[in-house]
Amino acid sequence: MTYREDIEGLDAAILMHPRVWEASGHVENFTDPMIDCKKCKARFRVDTLTEMISEKNKEKAIKEFDINLYNQEGNIDDKFTSVLENPELAIKILELINCPQCGNKGSFTQPRKFNLMFKTFLGPVEDENNIIYLRPETAQGIYVNFLNVANSSRQKLPFGIAQIGKAFRNEINTKNFLFRTREFEQMEMQYFVKPGTDKKYFDEWKDIRIQWYKSLGMTSSKLRFHDHPQDKLAHYAKEATDIEYEFPFGWGEIEGIHNRTDYDLSRHQQFSGKSQLYFDDETKEKYIPYIIETSAGASRSFMAFLIDAYYEEEVNGELRSVLRFHPKLAPIKAAVFPLVNKDGMPEVAKKIESLLRPHLKIFYDDKGAIGRRYRRMDEAGTPFCITVDTQTLQDETVTVRERDSMNQVRISISNLLGYLQEKLR
Ligand code: GAP
Repeated sequence: MTYREDIEGLDAAILMHPRVWEASGHVENFTDPMIDCKKCKARFRVDTLTEMISEKNKEKAIKEFDINLYNQEGNIDDKFTSVLENPELAIKILELINCPQCGNKGSFTQPRKFNLMFKTFLGPVEDENNIIYLRPETAQGIYVNFLNVANSSRQKLPFGIAQIGKAFRNEINTKNFLFRTREFEQMEMQYFVKPGTDKKYFDEWKDIRIQWYKSLGMTSSKLRFHDHPQDKLAHYAKEATDIEYEFPFGWGEIEGIHNRTDYDLSRHQQFSGKSQLYFDDETKEKYIPYIIETSAGASRSFMAFLIDAYYEEEVNGELRSVLRFHPKLAPIKAAVFPLVNKDGMPEVAKKIESLLRPHLKIFYDDKGAIGRRYRRMDEAGTPFCITVDTQTLQDETVTVRERDSMNQVRISISNLLGYLQEKLR
């Protein structure tokens, strides 16, 4: 995003006026249906409960509950979830189910809606009038600043506003390490377009975003789109797709791409009383732009990159763990080692460290056998290890070892920075 002339960056507030979340629909719609077990007090999200019940038991319950539904086309999970989403029907089918935690039958409450936004209070008085929310997505901060950014940057449609930042959701079931947490990092971009061109830009961004993961080395066969069916679209979306990654625990969303139409800006115009119309000076028209949103989880994608890069392999009878990060993602770009801690080698290695450090993230290591130092850098995903040895003292060359192939080449110290910069691009 940084290198595109049609995208501006923003750092909006985490705590915004509560009306922002009424306008966005989050106060009303950002809910998950929850079910409690009256006996053991365990609390489940409807979709999680569905996952926890065996296929056989779900099939049995549906058959007993409604034989016509059982005989209809479609998979058992979808049928079961659709019944649970209807509070009147849910209570009946839940009578037939054992609690996955305590095993008691018929012990569930009716599903209740639970809002995922974290609440706090503005100022010292903790009452209903002073409630504010921790943002559950970074997107709304972009929408309320749309005209502010458009006017100050002098961007013309189509253009985007991107930001990276914390989002907070009161998730009931956090799970799978960074996959679902209550505090997480999002990288969202909202692309404002003229109505009528939205489909074209939706398709373009789908392609750009999946290529982004591939260009950073993520395995293509572990990436796919999951298009949302019309009846499952979020309240603001006309078309939506998820980019999914195949985690060890199954396919999971890492990014959502939505055609949000003019829903958000129209709602902010309605709730704030401030016009959100954009003046198109080419056609002399005024309109509310449509928005194509690309919404990636930074922490969730990071986990996908981490898993994708992790390998264990045998080298000379020993197991090596290696993170084959794309060089752009590697947190340390190169390590510098003196082969031994004598004969002036540490001094030369320190000089190389200071030569490189202003340009690259470098790690200096003189502890332990050289083989162990290589292994430690393999585990950290460092693409290059530079070793100062006896020959360095004679001809001012060093060895550069590449992490994945473990091949070594000799490079003169004067060419080292250029060599690394070329390889790290
Ligand atoms: N503005 C649209 C939006 O927030 P979302 O599908 O709810 O859409 C976008 O979230 C991305 O944020 C997801 O694809 C995921 O990568 C990440 N995400 C959502 N909830 C998360 C959570 N509880 N923990 C970690 N990442 C999460």
